[in-house]
Amino acid sequence: MEAFELKKNFFWVGAIDWSVRDFHGYETPRGTTYNNYLIIDKEITLIDTVKYDFSDITIKHIKGLVDPSQIKHVVINHIENDHATAIDRIMSLCPEATIHITERGKKGLDRFFDTSRWKFHIVKTGDTLNIGQNNLIFVETPMLHWPDSMMTFCPEAAILFSQDGFGQHLASTARFDDDFTNCVSSTILDDAVVDYYANILMPFGQIILEAVSNLQKLGIKPEIIAPDHGIIWRAKPQQVIDSYIAMASGKSDLRALIVYDTMWKSTELMSVPISEGIRDEGVDCRVLKLRATPMNVIIREFWKARGTLFGTPTLNNIMFPTVAECLTHLRGLRPRNRIAGAFGSYGWGGGAVKEAYEIFTKMGLELFEPGLQVIYRPSSEDEEKCYQFGRSFAARIKEYHAQF
Ligand code: FEO
Repeated sequence: MEAFELKKNFFWVGAIDWSVRDFHGYETPRGTTYNNYLIIDKEITLIDTVKYDFSDITIKHIKGLVDPSQIKHVVINHIENDHATAIDRIMSLCPEATIHITERGKKGLDRFFDTSRWKFHIVKTGDTLNIGQNNLIFVETPMLHWPDSMMTFCPEAAILFSQDGFGQHLASTARFDDDFTNCVSSTILDDAVVDYYANILMPFGQIILEAVSNLQKLGIKPEIIAPDHGIIWRAKPQQVIDSYIAMASGKSDLRALIVYDTMWKSTELMSVPISEGIRDEGVDCRVLKLRATPMNVIIREFWKARGTLFGTPTLNNIMFPTVAECLTHLRGLRPRNRIAGAFGSYGWGGGAVKEAYEIFTKMGLELFEPGLQVIYRPSSEDEEKCYQFGRSFAARIKEYHAQF
């Protein structure tokens, strides 16, 4: 694929990673892209680089448009390796260019490269760079999602270069949202937005709300949002902003999720009447088995649901390891405004359900108590208890959901 013109003189010069399936532990079944952008103006400007492995591709794209030695400015919105590790290769082609970066970005870059070779301009929110016909306004977005992060807005073109914000892990030949939804699916795109938010940005809801508010205060109304991953938003840029505001404000679907694992199917058998009870109380319920579902999907569906029940057998008096792993992932993501409960079978001592509630409490989740335990295998009486457990959980979800 060649460089792609977003708007006159604004080009995507990034790379498509069709094959990545493990993105530092995050599963990416549809691959990803590393987007960076070249602005051809009086002073040629590159916005971000790419992952080192894709240096040759972005350099080829740039060379198809200009002699790289003519690049006058390199903006580094984010120093994480997937966006900044090609900088050494890029700067070797335009050693006189100035790198525009936040102070924290510069300090971070110093840890990865010999930066003494390069010229830097440290930028803060509201600083502007004139490159000819166009200006670039820098907006710091610390902890969205690294301390160094910022976004860059071009008011003349109304393009917001949003680094990881509003991105998605989707490899595609389509560059724009409307092209993707026409040739693939709007559901896949919507899910990819939630997946990215839930797995990467969930802890930063309040920061996201502040960042969106800062953009509005600066009068930034993008017609195009160009993130560093996935599809570029031109048909519905406001829709993805609204979606972020909704997620950051704690909105979810009126939906339940059951996440479970099982040793000899007893906990799995419990999940069936529980899900039926939830359904009969009028709440949609999805059931996902750990070990059969990628962790990023579990986390995405957890985030989409108002409440989740974790099914865990007891193994050696504690939770089943895969359930513990799932809760470890979720703890780091600091979810808010979600209800959690636990159920499971045990043979003699029990302990898994109790341990799950201890973790829910540490996480600050709303508790659906008490949990439900069954010895060995659920009897028909136990199945009725499971059904009623599901109904009660759904009723609690409806009551809690009404607050949002
Ligand atoms: Fe896509 Fe935070 O790097």
